[in-house]
Amino acid sequence: MLTTAPRGTKDIMPADVKAWRYLEETMRRICAQYGYKEIRTPVFEHTELFLRGIGETTDVVEKEMYTFTDRGNRSITLRPENTASAVRAYIEHKLYAEPAPTKLFYIGPMFRYDRPQAGRYRQFHQFGIEALGIQGPNIDAEIILLAVQILQSLGLKDLKLKINSVGCPKCRPLHREKLQAFFKPHFDELCKDCQSRYARNPLRLLDCKNPHCHELGDGAPSLEECLCDECREHFEGLKKLLTAAGIEYEIDHNLVRGLDYYTKTAFEIQYQPLGAQSAVCGGGRYDGLIEEVGGPATPGIGFAMGMERVLLALESQNLLPAEMESMDVFAVCPNQEYFPTVFKTVIDLRRAGLKAEFDFQGRSMKAQMKQANKVNARNVLIFGEDEFARGQVVLRNMATSEQKEIAITDIITNLQAEV
Ligand code: HAM
Repeated sequence: MLTTAPRGTKDIMPADVKAWRYLEETMRRICAQYGYKEIRTPVFEHTELFLRGIGETTDVVEKEMYTFTDRGNRSITLRPENTASAVRAYIEHKLYAEPAPTKLFYIGPMFRYDRPQAGRYRQFHQFGIEALGIQGPNIDAEIILLAVQILQSLGLKDLKLKINSVGCPKCRPLHREKLQAFFKPHFDELCKDCQSRYARNPLRLLDCKNPHCHELGDGAPSLEECLCDECREHFEGLKKLLTAAGIEYEIDHNLVRGLDYYTKTAFEIQYQPLGAQSAVCGGGRYDGLIEEVGGPATPGIGFAMGMERVLLALESQNLLPAEMESMDVFAVCPNQEYFPTVFKTVIDLRRAGLKAEFDFQGRSMKAQMKQANKVNARNVLIFGEDEFARGQVVLRNMATSEQKEIAITDIITNLQAEV
């Protein structure tokens, strides 16, 4: 136990960090193009925020939160997602007083006590964006385009964008009644959770993970037929803009998403080859959330992408950059008497902005050359005895094997020219 990471978590080892950085840099670059600014919120919040924000009948709140009482007797929860926290920060820092929209993005770890499998973890990372303060479908279209652009610019093809409208507090009650009437004859067959959701929030019956409940939901009345005029118009507006932008989409009336705050637009981007965990991105509009959490009535919309899932997709398609880490120079010191000069040289090279390393252990010349290869050094400086006596060193280019003698005083200029 002591030597393994907790179930559902994993180390991101130095060899993997390059891929993570590449992903994060792509996301940051595209966010800057669209005018989204980074926000970093705490990894834990008061539990109440998620109960109110995400909804008490959701799987996330009922089964998946890491909740504990701290030493000050407060109930604290590791964030299972970042939308509620972003909204809390928006209210706390009165961002609503600034001209809309407030465009935020975040990258960071989230925590859910989920059943771990490929693409599903207990500590996972999301990149997400939230746009607050704007009604109407234009911003919905913009954020969907942002998500698609990120995934496409990473090289992913065959993505499936699914959209739906989950209605608003005006049209939901009718749907709720229809759902209850539909499930009533099967009430006894529903799982315990769904039986309790039946009265409290029957929409949740449609995304229960229990396969039998899932089957029972086949043919359930769709929200589509219950949408009010405003929701219908909003949805039509979004479809028009996506078509104008040349984005293919599929309408999926069963797409309800697992969090309670959604209103109107809901969407998901799937990468089918990932199988059961194919949703790489999910989001939607949440026009009631800011008020629910205690702020002024303000609309909002956003999405989050599972970073691990995007990486799995990129890996499976060989889309990760292969470029290896390298060192500009490795200083080889066969005689420890010269080490102070070697040490000073390496420090000066680093101060000049070069990537430079040396051997710490006074090993043989052969071992030091092996180390230079291991760190992928593009050049090696060899402080050989004869040369050192003349104030010179050998500079060897590892790719061409060419070598020349240079004055110790000229090392920096020579290497700057070389790299
Ligand atoms: P979500 O659908 O719960 O939405 O999560 C978004 C994405 O996070 C999923 O599509 C998936 O890629 C990834 N994800 C979720 N759970 C796991 C897990 N256990 N392991 C690995 N990846 C996972 C939200 O979190 C909303 N806050 C999105 C949003 C932002 N809606 C509006 N604004």
